[in-house]
Amino acid sequence: MNKLSIVGAGMVGEAAAQIIAREELCRELTLIDVQGELAKGKALDVWQAAVESGSDTRVHGGADAQLLHDSELVVITAGVPRKPGQSRQDVLSINLPIIDGIMRDINQHAPTATVLVVSNPVDVLTYRAWSLSKLGRNKVFGQAGVLDTARMKCFIAEETGFSARDITALVLGGHGDSMVPLMRYCAVSSVPLSHFLSNEQIERIVQRTRQGGGEILGLKKMGSACDAPGVAIAQMVDAIAHWRNSILPTVAILEGEYGRTGIAMGVPCVLAGEGIERVIELSLDAQEQAMFDQSADQVARDIAEMNALVGGGA
Ligand code: 2OP
Repeated sequence: MNKLSIVGAGMVGEAAAQIIAREELCRELTLIDVQGELAKGKALDVWQAAVESGSDTRVHGGADAQLLHDSELVVITAGVPRKPGQSRQDVLSINLPIIDGIMRDINQHAPTATVLVVSNPVDVLTYRAWSLSKLGRNKVFGQAGVLDTARMKCFIAEETGFSARDITALVLGGHGDSMVPLMRYCAVSSVPLSHFLSNEQIERIVQRTRQGGGEILGLKKMGSACDAPGVAIAQMVDAIAHWRNSILPTVAILEGEYGRTGIAMGVPCVLAGEGIERVIELSLDAQEQAMFDQSADQVARDIAEMNALVGGGA
């Protein structure tokens, strides 16, 4: 990839930038933030670290939206994180106008760029960003499930004692307390989890995964997770930059899949150079479908709240 921009030079944006630059996932990386000096400083730091890892990615920073020009991919991490005790939806009224402003800038300076939304509430803001863009749903999507899945892998490794490298997992649904860890699709070296763990242990993993972001926020207090979100962003960027056709849980606009439209939420998608290559529709059993529906209903309510804030629609 030639040029990638990250809008939001906070902890998550910086963490993602470090990996993207180090792994040389693009030739030019721009870090943009309303605090231009901060973005410039972090860009220099990230660049100098990447050079020492043998990368030739050139990193710039600043506040000027023109820095977006020619970006092939824009990652949006800008916005305030929630505080302990808040839900992700609680920061909607602050982060919504921020996303609107960024989408105006993208439409002006990089109208064909693929957009990866990370700011919370991510399902709602992904939907909003897509509504404001002039692009198909393959080009505007969000990150949540890669992070949630990474968390679940940790908890499975802890509960089973097996190497985290051998664990595969899958979390769908909205990025909130009603997210849908699909235990039937979790395995250790292809052996289903139910072979090793009791229902009680599995339920413990499900609950801890759902609360995974809140657990870290409650401990850090001054900010939410940043390192694992940075890795999750880089994993999606890698799939796009290298046209990998990777199946990754992605916050996607649904057009009838899983019985839903007019909503964005986490589903397995094939990611490659043009963004979402396709949405994979798994056949869910009755219990999984019920969890998915509950999560989708919550996201639909959150989107309705957003629509009310903007006066009825995009
Ligand atoms: C998390 O789950 C911040 O939503 C992000 O940690």
